[in-house]
Amino acid sequence: MTVAPTRRQLIAGAAGTLAAARTPAAAWRRPNGFLWGTAISAHQSEGGNTNSDSWLLETNTPTAFRDPSGDACDSYHRYTEDLDIAASLGLNCYRFGIEWARIEPAPGMFSVAALDHYVRVLEACHARGLLPIVTFNHFTVPLWFAMRGGFEVADGADLFARFCAKATERLGPLIGMASTFNEANIVLLRKVLPRFASDAAAANARAMIAAAARRTDSPRFSSMLFGDPDRISDVMLDAHAKGQAAIKAGPGDFPVGVTLSMQEIQGVGPDNQAAQAERTIYGGWIEAARRADFVGVQTYSRLRIDAHGMMKPEAGVPLTDMGYENYPHAIGATIRYAAKHIGRPIYLTETGIGTSDDSIRARFIDATVTEVARCIAEGIDVTGYLYWSLLDNFEWTSGYAKQFGLVAVDRTTLKRTIKPSAQVLAAHARAGRP
Ligand code: BGC
Repeated sequence: MTVAPTRRQLIAGAAGTLAAARTPAAAWRRPNGFLWGTAISAHQSEGGNTNSDSWLLETNTPTAFRDPSGDACDSYHRYTEDLDIAASLGLNCYRFGIEWARIEPAPGMFSVAALDHYVRVLEACHARGLLPIVTFNHFTVPLWFAMRGGFEVADGADLFARFCAKATERLGPLIGMASTFNEANIVLLRKVLPRFASDAAAANARAMIAAAARRTDSPRFSSMLFGDPDRISDVMLDAHAKGQAAIKAGPGDFPVGVTLSMQEIQGVGPDNQAAQAERTIYGGWIEAARRADFVGVQTYSRLRIDAHGMMKPEAGVPLTDMGYENYPHAIGATIRYAAKHIGRPIYLTETGIGTSDDSIRARFIDATVTEVARCIAEGIDVTGYLYWSLLDNFEWTSGYAKQFGLVAVDRTTLKRTIKPSAQVLAAHARAGRP
């Protein structure tokens, strides 16, 4: 059993000293009322995340990735342009990730320059009236962390907590809300989704990880999205608890939660395995979310489960470009599920649609707002909706082939072009309550 070091020990034990946190120049205010925003992650938008596990895997042979992330959207340098767009749409919050691989490029070595960068991003959010909602981990980890076994080895939890403490020490006074992990249960969901659980997909992922282990001379190489779900999930539960405590220790005084991948699970027919699938997908995370300040619900579709497991999409229901059903009713269902089973304040921290037809996206946004409004009318405490994503960004194994963005990004020039669907979200945001 590992014993969690105290915050003081964590900070004293880390190599390198950070410059004392700069006092924020101006006090900032939390927006009143409903939060309207967009969500994005570090690896998918910043570009050049060369020190991460994903960068290595994307350029591996074999690889599960269609494209390398490369420059992504170059948001590391163009964040003011992105924030200007978000503010121009009348939004009042902005969810983004800080990248552990940049902040701690080698074990125990924390980069003042990287933390300074995120201070500038946070200050730029406040300057535009956007409450910054910070994700401490959105799937990617530093390469050195993957090489030592990632979240498959128990003390991975302590290293994550140390990163959380160090980042909070510098960034805490400027953070509006935070979550430890993005979709903490994603590794468990992989056990059920056919596109990951199929024999071919699993064999390809195993071959990729084996090759990465050889290439880096690291027999225990483990990457969150491709490792052993049960081992990873147990260590991540510990990492979440310790990370949450480290962030809550401050400085700063803001809600700290966790976001979960929550799809509507519908049981179909007699002896269906829906209850079993639900237990597999959530593992210990419902319990963990009950101990958080809030839960971030992230919903993209529904899963229909019969006596044999996951069913194919229902005939007649339109599909998104991702191959799953375009089914916005799922959003109301998962918010109700979170209200019933978790009972903490709810934010819809992600929902969106992968489609090259922006009019479909516009209708999806309207439908989302209708679902949220119904839940509020039923008395459910849901106070934010963040569309995934602001930009057409790096869609993991699908690379740049799938578009979720309100804003197109030209892959040659990285020029941003706002799509009409962005104005649909803007109109709702300007109207105020869903
Ligand atoms: C993830 C994002 C991803 C989105 C669309 C969510 O599960 O948090 O990183 O891009 O789904 O697939």
